Amino acid sequence: MTRLAEGLPGSPASILGIGAYRGSQVVPNADLVEAIDSSDEWIQQRSGIRERRFATPEETVQLMSVRACQEALDNAGIDARQVDAVIVATISHLMQLPAVAPAVATELGCDQPVAFDVSAACAGFCHGVTLAADMIRGGSATYALVVGVERLTDMLDLEDRGTAFIFADGAGAVVIGPTETSGIGPVVWGSDGEHFDYIRQREDWPDVLAAEQPGGHFITMQGSAVFRWASFSMAKVGLEALDRSGISVDDLDCFVPHQANMRITDAMARAMKLPASVKIARDVAEQGNTSAASVPLALHRMVADGDAVSGDLALLIAFGAGLAYAAQVVVIP
Ligand SMILES: CC(C)(COP(=O)(O)OP(=O)(O)OC[C@H]1O[C@@H](n2cnc3c(N)ncnc32)[C@H](O)[C@@H]1OP(=O)(O)O)[C@@H](O)C(=O)NCCC(=O)NCCS
Repeated sequence: MTRLAEGLPGSPASILGIGAYRGSQVVPNADLVEAIDSSDEWIQQRSGIRERRFATPEETVQLMSVRACQEALDNAGIDARQVDAVIVATISHLMQLPAVAPAVATELGCDQPVAFDVSAACAGFCHGVTLAADMIRGGSATYALVVGVERLTDMLDLEDRGTAFIFADGAGAVVIGPTETSGIGPVVWGSDGEHFDYIRQREDWPDVLAAEQPGGHFITMQGSAVFRWASFSMAKVGLEALDRSGISVDDLDCFVPHQANMRITDAMARAMKLPASVKIARDVAEQGNTSAASVPLALHRMVADGDAVSGDLALLIAFGAGLAYAAQVVVIP
């Protein structure tokens, strides 16, 4: 399935199908600007976001996950009963206990798979892809579903100028399974807990619960610090992922970075010296930043638009709160 005759380094596991579910409310910048004393022009200039998708009350984390997973299964031609691992990457399933993954698996009709949530914020989906591929390579799973899903509107203060226009809702999923050659390259991942506070829930849960005013669970972010970190440090991580897969920017077909902000994407593409032939995911313009869902949603749109075709080599890179990051090269199914 890959144009590299021997596949990427590592034993064989690949993405077999991709699915997506976007919150059904289309919210243009104009709907948000009054509450944050901003303008459509400012938001577009600083973030590249024109509109975003918000979920309705019925579009829960579980519902969006199930819909995205079902499409990924259909595209892969795999039945839910063949799936023996379900990994849900999310930070907005607002229930501490239990994880949402077993409920997603049961609703899909899987037969008692291992099912757990991953909390690595915006990097969660790329963490999940690595875990699933390693489980398949190690023999502890055969077919895995990995879904990145967020309902960030539940954690969004629409009066906060630094976050209200950025975050949104949706789910993106992939099926990963065994293949003859490897379609998932070695990961480059890590964390920097020194900057744990750059993006976080405003208050710890005990304070949220004790407070008279609601809202302690809202996201707060040091936007400029995050911007500098992502723009300058993540290009190196991306280049290292290419190197570990034995390819250069000239071999790459698609660049699918976390859809945080168009200026971060452009800064990374410049720093990595991506040739003009590399197609760049720009889903953020119409979807907003959906944290763990952003990379698979962007991947899904690239395939749907014909910007990524079967056999293409794509660099995925995701980064955010933690600070946590992960990058890998994958072959488009
Ligand atoms: C949020 C972000 C767009 C803000 O852009 P910025 O250029 O860093 O903005 P700053 O906070 O430095 O503020 C610049 C000016 O814009 C103003 N401003 C801030 N937010 C504004 C808003 N929503 N609307 C209008 N003006 C705003 C500030 O008051 C400031 O004005 P001043 O220069 O007169 O003091 C940017 O920091 C960013 O994209 N950060 C990364 C966010 C991200 O991707 N997070 C997710 C990572 S997972």
